[in-house]
Amino acid sequence: MTPEALMELAREAMGRAYAPYSGFQVGAALLGESGRVYVGCNVENAAYGPTCCAERTAFFSAVAQGERRFQALAVLGGMGGVVSRPAAPCGVCRQVMAEFCPPDFPIYMGGPDGRIEKHTLSELLPLAFSGQNLQTDPA
Ligand code: THU
Repeated sequence: MTPEALMELAREAMGRAYAPYSGFQVGAALLGESGRVYVGCNVENAAYGPTCCAERTAFFSAVAQGERRFQALAVLGGMGGVVSRPAAPCGVCRQVMAEFCPPDFPIYMGGPDGRIEKHTLSELLPLAFSGQNLQTDPA
């Protein structure tokens, strides 16, 4: 699947964002190793803290459906669903990605006029904390 096709699915998901408090709508589309795509949108809450980002919604949905290995993520967002600049995933979502994805995992960020920026997970989250840090044997 092309980055453009994955981004289109993220855009559709962005349209389903539940963002009555910030007005900032985000959509994500996560391509599994199987070829299946898992979409997510941000889901806000009146208590603010329980809000879940689009990226984590997509990852958690995928894991809940039995997929844990992934090929790529597309994400885009904007106020009222209008994309004026690429939306970089937040730090919490980057940490969730690091749980399931390798350092060279591609993250496509949608910008205005259909432009797409590609970044890798290690660019967004260098020196990630991982399950290896919980091992007692030396590196
Ligand atoms: N948001 C995401 O969905 N993904 C991100 O990576 C950054 C922020 C959402 C959370 C909240 O609903 C809104 O954008 C404003 O922060």
